[in-house]
Amino acid sequence: MRRVLIVLLAGLVPALFALVPAASAQEAEKGEEAEAKHEYISMRKCSMCHKGERKGNIYEIWEASRHAKAFETLAGEKALAIAKEKGIENPQQAGECLQCHVTGYGEDESLTADLEMANGVTCQACHGAGGDYAKMSTMKDLKASVAAGMVADPKQQCVECHNENSPTYKPFDFEKSWEKIKHATPEDD
Ligand code: HEC
Ligand code: HEC
Ligand code: HEC
Ligand code: HEC
Repeated sequence: MRRVLIVLLAGLVPALFALVPAASAQEAEKGEEAEAKHEYISMRKCSMCHKGERKGNIYEIWEASRHAKAFETLAGEKALAIAKEKGIENPQQAGECLQCHVTGYGEDESLTADLEMANGVTCQACHGAGGDYAKMSTMKDLKASVAAGMVADPKQQCVECHNENSPTYKPFDFEKSWEKIKHATPEDD
């Protein structure tokens, strides 16, 4: 019995030591993740390169979408009625509404200085803050762009806003919704 215990302990001690560096490596990784914050840039910069027919009219498609009006919507009658019920005076100044109706809400102010709330839900709300990827040399290289914070396929992002915390929530169907805002760069560009 005692022998068994010793054998067990002998096995356990190195195992415990093995856990220590593993745990601190994890901490370090978390730390790095926390540091990997990217600055948001003015959306005019995205549109400079993603505008016009030859580029798939990506900017124009966004501009015609409800996302471009998301901030404006908060000044409308319907928004004011919802706000009143919740005891919110001005939805355009309330975090409770802005968290989904603008880009970068709640991020560190030092990262969002170039954003304008009036633009509503923009490219970077889905594709990630562009400060480190939105230059030609990086953008041409998909891997480098992703390493610099670009979200190439933001399908998972939709439900961060299209969910039951929205006072006007309607069940979200990705395929149907994407159909209304879909955009792509033409193959031959
Ligand atoms: C200097 C020009 C330039 C700027 C600024 C720029 N892009 Fe790009 N982007 C490109 C080029 C070039 C590509 C490669 C594909 C192509 O030819 O359109 C690309 C590709 C992309 C892709 C597709 C990646 C994939 O899946 O292949 C996304 C998404 C994207 N850009 C988003 C943005 C966003 C969001 C911004 C602003 C934060 C931005 N871009 C700013 C030039 C630019
Ligand atoms: C940052 C929050 C946010 C994200 C992320 C987001 N949306 Fe939206 N979306 C909104 C808001 C807010 C509105 C309402 C805008 C308005 O009407 O003023 C909206 C409206 C829409 C509409 C128009 C209303 C409707 O249901 O027909 C479509 C379509 C849509 N979103 C699709 C998408 C898809 C697809 C994704 C993911 C690829 C997505 N959204 C990601 C916030 C977001
Ligand atoms: C969790 C994210 C989220 C929050 C928080 C949020 N919204 Fe929205 N809002 C959306 C989305 C997504 C849409 C579009 C589709 C929908 O209603 O689900 C939308 C649409 C709207 C619309 C347009 C509805 C229509 O069909 O005309 C109004 C008005 C609105 N929101 C007001 C508000 C107000 C006011 C607040 C704050 C009290 C608020 N929202 C908070 C995500 C949000
Ligand atoms: C509501 C979220 C959302 C917004 C806003 C949005 N995108 Fe996208 N974007 C997507 C999704 C989803 C895809 C599809 C990715 C896929 O099919 O893999 C995509 C694809 C792309 C692509 C790659 C298309 C390809 O050829 O593979 C580019 C480039 C792009 N977006 C640029 C932009 C720019 C520039 C803006 C702003 C003017 C913008 N997007 C706004 C969600 C969004």
